[in-house]
Amino acid sequence: MSRFLNGRLRAVEPYTPGEQPRGVQSLLKLNTNENPYPPSPRVLAALNEGEVARLNLYSDPDCADFLRVLADTLGVGRAQVLAGNGSDEVLQFAFSAFAEKGAAYPDITYGFYDVLSRFFGLPSRAVPLREDFTVAVEDYEGFPGMVVLANPNAPSGLYLPLGEIEKLLSQDPDRLCLIDEAYIDFGGESAVSLLPRYENLLVVGTFSKSRSLAGARLGYAVGSEEVIRDLNTVRCSINPYNINSLTLLAGIAALRDADYFQKCCADVAAVRDWTARALRGLGFTVTESSTNFVFAGGHPALSGWAYFEALRENGILARHFDAPRTEDWVRISVGTAAQMERVVDTTKAILSAGKEF
Ligand SMILES: Cc1ncc(COP(=O)(O)O)c(C=O)c1O
Repeated sequence: MSRFLNGRLRAVEPYTPGEQPRGVQSLLKLNTNENPYPPSPRVLAALNEGEVARLNLYSDPDCADFLRVLADTLGVGRAQVLAGNGSDEVLQFAFSAFAEKGAAYPDITYGFYDVLSRFFGLPSRAVPLREDFTVAVEDYEGFPGMVVLANPNAPSGLYLPLGEIEKLLSQDPDRLCLIDEAYIDFGGESAVSLLPRYENLLVVGTFSKSRSLAGARLGYAVGSEEVIRDLNTVRCSINPYNINSLTLLAGIAALRDADYFQKCCADVAAVRDWTARALRGLGFTVTESSTNFVFAGGHPALSGWAYFEALRENGILARHFDAPRTEDWVRISVGTAAQMERVVDTTKAILSAGKEF
């Protein structure tokens, strides 16, 4: 740390992304919930030589073409959407715009919420999930700041029904609730349908998971026109050209290929359910995931850490969260059917190796 760093940032611990190994071809990378399938072929067609030649020009600061297609796809007005450089950037905008009184989020959830709270020096609260990792919305009653829920949640994979989201929104119409739907396309119903009735709802989504565009960095917010205007004030004060031209084109092409999108989501969900069943058959507890990952733990003969390490020794990269309530669990992103067969076969071999764990 240099002596020039602002005092507020001295205690900040940055988010630790899942490992991105380079050049290790044999490693099966199932640690950051990427989609195992490539983007739609239409994306490749959209990113042609002519578009590359236009990179001398700035990208559209209004993201107009992209937002029009996105708004149509979501069934909302053009002024109700905003694009972010990944949904992480949208979260950053939202925390800086709406969390003066802090943010409340589950104790076990996407780690970036806590990082942003610390970064902005907010009076935030981590609200414990129930023992079974479900969200108890009544525990948010009376909290004055912004409420942030990932739905489905990560790493639990559990989906909170819209009725519960409505209860949360009804607790206080003057408190904004941000619902992070990074994984919604793999199961569950989007809260976007609640927007006409709840002005205090902000939905955040991403192209990183279900649209196979993690490397393009494209996320979005959907909310009331006023809330989106506020987010745009932040965006245009920090980074008005926040989405590059090629990513905007990739986003449009991905949205236009609805068949490919639906097929990829359905395939991932089917492979996920197969994997969950297989791991349960091997003695793991596996949550009911509505996402593109499985969360497995509680094995009588294998601790979460030992399982994570043993997978890694066998060339499979998963994710382990070293916190008291999650240390006995491993999160494994859903790959192709063949990749997940390798995970299950490797797990069998680990268990039958008869090691002392
Ligand atoms: C719940 C949740 N929200 C947001 C993100 C960020 O996604 P991106 O910035 O790639 O859109 C992630 C990434 O894993 C996530 O798990």
